[in-house]
Amino acid sequence: MSVAEKSIAGAEARGHGFLASSVGRKVVMAASGIMLFGFVTVHMLGNTQAYMGAEAFNGYAKFLHTMVHGDGIWVFRAVLLVAVGLHIWAATTLTLDNNAARPVGYRAQQNVASTWSSRTMRWSGVILAAFIVYHLLHLTLGTVHPAFNHDNPYANFVSGFKVPAVAGFYIVAQLCLGLHMWHGVWSFTQSLGWSHPRYDGLRRNFATGLTVLVVGVNISYPIAVLTGFIR
Ligand code: HEM
Repeated sequence: MSVAEKSIAGAEARGHGFLASSVGRKVVMAASGIMLFGFVTVHMLGNTQAYMGAEAFNGYAKFLHTMVHGDGIWVFRAVLLVAVGLHIWAATTLTLDNNAARPVGYRAQQNVASTWSSRTMRWSGVILAAFIVYHLLHLTLGTVHPAFNHDNPYANFVSGFKVPAVAGFYIVAQLCLGLHMWHGVWSFTQSLGWSHPRYDGLRRNFATGLTVLVVGVNISYPIAVLTGFIR
C-alpha cells in the first residue's frame, strides 16, 4: 500500500464523528494550542524569578512542587500531557489527510504562503518536541545535567546555561518556539474568522507582540548566565 493509500485508509478508519472531521481536529488543535500557549507564557513569567536571585527562584520552584499538598503539580502535568498529546495527534492526522487528498501535480499550484507556513509549523513543531524531551531530562529530571542537585533548581539553571552548547540549543529552540507561536496565533485567529483587511494589522501585531515577549524573555535567561548577569 502506498503512503497516500495508507493515509486515506487512516482517514476512513477515523470514521465520521466530530474528531474525524478536519474542522473538529482543527478545533482540538486550536484549543490545545491555546492551553500550551498559556503554559509557555506563565512559565516564562515564573522563570523571571531567576532575576530576583537564588532564594526567590528556589522558593517559586518549591511552591510549584508543594501546591495543593503536592498534588497540584501532578494535575497540572496530566493536563499538559493531554494537551501536548492532542496537539500532536491533531497535527499529524491533519497532515496525513492533507497529503492523501492532494492529487499529484497539485503541489506546484499551491498557495506558496500557506505551504511555507505549514511546512514551518511541522519542522518547528518537531524541534520543539525534541527540545521539551531534552529540557525535562535537563532541568526537571537532571538525567543529562552533570551537576544536577534536586534541592537547588537555581544552581541547576545557572550551571546548566554555563555550558555554551546547551545555552545555544536553548536559544535555537526558543527561535523555533517563536516561529511556531507566531504562525499558531496567526492561523488560529484566521480560523476564528478574523481574517479581514480591517483586522489583519491587529492580528499581526498581536501575534508578533506575544511572540517577541515570550521568546525575548526566554532567550534572555541563557544569555544572562553566559554574560555573568545571573550567577
Ligand atoms: C529558556 C527558557 C526556559 C527556561 C529557563 C526554563 C526553565 C525551567 C526549569 C528551571 C524547570 C524545572 C522546574 C522545577 O522542576 O522546579 C522547567 C520545567 C519545565 N519546563 Fe521549562 N524553561 C524554559 C522554556 C520552556 C519551554 C519553551 C517549554 C515548553 C515548550 C518548557 C516546558 C517545561 C516543562 C513541561 C517543565 C516541567 C514542569 C513540571 O515539573 O512538570 N520550558 N523549566
